[in-house]
Amino acid sequence: MEYDAIVIGAGAAGLMTAIVAGQRGRRVLVVDHANKAGKKILMSGGGRCNFTNTNTTPANFLSANPHFCKSALARYTPWHFIDMVEKHRIKYHEKSPGQLFCDESSKLIVRMLLDECAAAGVQVELNTPVRRIKAGEGGFGCDTPLGHVRAPALVVATGGLSIPSLGASGFGYDVAKQFGHQVLPVRAGLVPLTLSGKHQERYDGLAGVALPIAASAGDASFRDAMLFTHRGISGPAILQISSYWEPGVDLRLDLLPGVDAYEALVAGRNERPAAEFRTVLSGLLPRRLAERLCEVWLPSKPMRQYRDAELKDIAAKLQDWPLVASGTEGYRTAEVTLGGVDTDEVSSSTLMSKRQPGLYFVGEVLDVTGHLGGYNFQWAWASGHAAGQAL
Ligand code: FDA
Repeated sequence: MEYDAIVIGAGAAGLMTAIVAGQRGRRVLVVDHANKAGKKILMSGGGRCNFTNTNTTPANFLSANPHFCKSALARYTPWHFIDMVEKHRIKYHEKSPGQLFCDESSKLIVRMLLDECAAAGVQVELNTPVRRIKAGEGGFGCDTPLGHVRAPALVVATGGLSIPSLGASGFGYDVAKQFGHQVLPVRAGLVPLTLSGKHQERYDGLAGVALPIAASAGDASFRDAMLFTHRGISGPAILQISSYWEPGVDLRLDLLPGVDAYEALVAGRNERPAAEFRTVLSGLLPRRLAERLCEVWLPSKPMRQYRDAELKDIAAKLQDWPLVASGTEGYRTAEVTLGGVDTDEVSSSTLMSKRQPGLYFVGEVLDVTGHLGGYNFQWAWASGHAAGQAL
């Protein structure tokens, strides 16, 4: 069977590539080994799919080459995707600034993409793994349960390693290596962090406690909520910083972001001189956490007994709290995979390999990873669109 392009992966990036190429009259086959298209879209945003972020800029992406994502993002903006969503009468709302979610269900986004594929004449085949790829005169040949399929263009849209139960595989990296591409080291991103040993024991029993924090690692800092879990810490601020954290990297938490902790403690001493420090701290932080901090690190006495220097010291600690994570929860729960196909060997305007003419890489399989908040889908749409225009 002959096509103009074969797309491996019926996820966000693969379907967008196919739609755009199909609309341009290309005969496109999309194959996916999973039994459903867009499984991650279905799971995303708690079932409501945070499908884009209207504040998207290249600064929202991690990559060894921070310039790589610019061209595709500039040519397919969140507003282009919103036009498609509105054309399909899918209702949506803005949650945190810029983050757009479906009002009803992420199923509507998958439905929309499959309807667009059908309208563009794209053939989508599920339960169809690709066994072997061969490049030769006139393009690529793939062995699949459908038989041998051939096309002059092959698009690798197989995503990253996160959540194997949703169909994730390292197949895209193997294809990249087969054609001589470098694959930069991969690791789980947007993932809860784990604590162990004495670091875990000290926070034991706090599961369920949530608070606003600013988390910092290296030059990166994110202000959002944090949640203690049974295994460690999670919540949006931790998921964000996890993409910048690795074992050995210093992780610091401002437990009172936007507050002058020293002023707050001095006010506490002036207003309630007889109160215990732990009581005053419980007014600033969740009570269970405040009590634990006092049990383990900050011995409590009546407020009137604290000198200014002592309060300054405590305030500085609260705003630069060191937390020693032992690792991450890994690909089982990670939203994304950091690293991947080296962008230096891929054209930023067409997404075509610089090593193998006709071979394209789109979406998360590339070394481009977005922050939390709809950026990863925006990269999938934008990179898919760029490749679809070039096929
Ligand atoms: P994606 O993983 O979507 O698709 C890859 C496809 O390739 C899959 O269908 C897979 O079955 C197929 N495949 C893999 N190996 C294959 C093989 N060997 N043969 C054939 N097919 C193969 N992002 C965001 O912006 N907003 C959000 O709300 C969320 N929420 C979210 C929740 C959860 C639980 C996860 C795990 C992730 C998110 N994300 C997200 C991230 C987002 O889902 C992700 O970045 C994109 O889906 C990446 O799109 P791709 O098309 O590149 O890969």
